[in-house]
Amino acid sequence: MKKGRVFSGARPTGQQHIGNYLGAIQNYVALQDDYECIYCIVDIHALTTLEDTHLLQANIREMALDWLAAGIDPQRSIMFVQSHVPEIAELFTYMGMTTPMGWLTRVPTFKEKVRMHPDNVNYGLLGYPVLMASDIILYKADTVPVGEDQLPHLELTREIVRRFNSIFGEVFPEPKAKLTEIPLIVGLDGSAKMSKSMDNQIDLAVSDEETLKRVKTAFTDPTRVRKNDPGHPDKCNVYTLHGAFTTSVFPEKFMAIAHDCKQAQIGCVDCKKLLGESINEFLRPFRERRAKLAENPGVLDEILADGAKRASAIAKETLREVKEKMGLL
Ligand code: TRP
Repeated sequence: MKKGRVFSGARPTGQQHIGNYLGAIQNYVALQDDYECIYCIVDIHALTTLEDTHLLQANIREMALDWLAAGIDPQRSIMFVQSHVPEIAELFTYMGMTTPMGWLTRVPTFKEKVRMHPDNVNYGLLGYPVLMASDIILYKADTVPVGEDQLPHLELTREIVRRFNSIFGEVFPEPKAKLTEIPLIVGLDGSAKMSKSMDNQIDLAVSDEETLKRVKTAFTDPTRVRKNDPGHPDKCNVYTLHGAFTTSVFPEKFMAIAHDCKQAQIGCVDCKKLLGESINEFLRPFRERRAKLAENPGVLDEILADGAKRASAIAKETLREVKEKMGLL
């Protein structure tokens, strides 16, 4: 018996990096054991900022390949592209009728966007959280794995649900956020977040050589200037990454690192080399599966088409109920 239904979505950002893996994908994969899972590539959300739309199709495919190779199992879970199930646009319209405007103008991410790009504030951007709420409730999901930055959106989703249910009767469950406990993955350059736009990331699907080359550039404990200065692993992002990768592939080596670093028995160069080897070892099966999947694009198309078909069946049911309650049927 499954514990409930999970829904999560991510914008199609193309090839995924180790920060995406540790922050979301790994968790998506693990949840499949206990929950009925629905994972969505939210291409409509990507349109709220209208960046790189000519790359959208390629980005969707790269991301989907990464998800599958990482272990999202299309037999057990539903994996699909948001716009392939157009029922989302219909539910979004209906939910717009019960969501007070003031709730949306107060959303911190909206206010931030208005401040940063005052000349590019469209109606879709204001509606972003309503679209996200609609994603979740179209499938009556009760559990939503997200990072901390999405908590205001989730809280708003719950308010939208409560309001709808109180006006029209119980239709939707109130979804709960399932916060992912993850180590903060700092960019290789030491900036706050690993991200493609900063070019400070290690993509999952790159060669062993490229991985080693990138790891070499990683920022380490800034107080350790010379090789025989004692290091502070608890303040070093490279050590955090050892904790994510080396622990599972070379556990005995992981045990020694903190000690050797504090005693200045291992230098940052060797420590990073070991990290690169761990990442390569850890990702080897992933990279093999991904290369195989990429060889045959038809398989990916079939998986996405099947996901959309199964998602659409659930969506149609929910919409029929919503329309009935709202007096449209
Ligand atoms: N807003 C989310 C993000 O930027 C993406 C998203 C869209 C989402 N719809 C969702 C996440 C539904 C969880 C559930 O990361």
